[in-house]
Amino acid sequence: PYVITAPCIGVKDASCVEVCPVDCIYTDDDAPQYYINPDECIDCGACEPECPVSAIYPEDSVPEQWQDFIRINAEYFQLK
Ligand code: SF4
Ligand code: F3S
Repeated sequence: PYVITAPCIGVKDASCVEVCPVDCIYTDDDAPQYYINPDECIDCGACEPECPVSAIYPEDSVPEQWQDFIRINAEYFQLK
């Protein structure tokens, strides 16, 4: 799946949500960022170029300093 990382925090631009064909990008008012449900993401890649702060990466290409966000995205959906 794709993963949303630190640059989304406090930005929550939501352009990614508009293009996701399976509507698997979620948040709520209390959450600091948006999250991709790894069980629902179909790896289409549509969201990645839409993010103005480049927060979205394929799981196998998440930068070293943001590796925790793989777990953070899954935990939002209580999948880990
Ligand atoms: Fe949605 Fe595609 Fe992005 Fe996965 S890669 S979150 S399916 S737009
Ligand atoms: Fe966040 Fe970028 Fe989407 S800032 S809400 S990952 S467009």
